[in-house]
Amino acid sequence: MAILSIRIIGDPILRTAAEPVTEFGPELAKLVADMFETMDAVDGAGLAAPQIGVGLRLFTYNVNGQRGYVINPQISNGDETQQGAGEGCLSVPGLGFAVRRFMHTTVTGVDLENQAITVSGEDMLARCLQHETDHLDGHLYTDRLEGEDRKAALRAIRAAQYQKITARTASTRAQSVGSSFGGLA
Ligand code: NI
Repeated sequence: MAILSIRIIGDPILRTAAEPVTEFGPELAKLVADMFETMDAVDGAGLAAPQIGVGLRLFTYNVNGQRGYVINPQISNGDETQQGAGEGCLSVPGLGFAVRRFMHTTVTGVDLENQAITVSGEDMLARCLQHETDHLDGHLYTDRLEGEDRKAALRAIRAAQYQKITARTASTRAQSVGSSFGGLA
């Protein structure tokens, strides 16, 4: 297994809709294992494949002891919203803003054997499932901020000068993602 470097805001892959997974085999199993290892290494609540430079529709999650992954997720949300709670993203390091999310979320998808799986959650897990699915459509949580929060986020992102970090992670990534999945990035 390997810990992969995480793409930072400004990297185009974070703004690109990911492609469905169509090949199920050892490469995919290794990718999922590496994503778990990477998520755990940085104490993340979730990690979507584009964040490690792989343009495929899958993510891992780890929220309050509930842990797993979903390949090719389809999301559905209940009507109820939850209070805006502090949310962060490994691709927007060092920042956190309150985001409005739905309270109840169900994600259906498949596992490594291409068998159907369903994950349902509320509150923080629902928040995580919405956040990670957004990544697969090229959206970041900062896109969902409004008004003053949005302005504050954009200011903070500018001030953080992430593009300098991006250049560094891009140059180290080539060594860490050697699988054929890298071709889609
Ligand atoms: Ni994120």
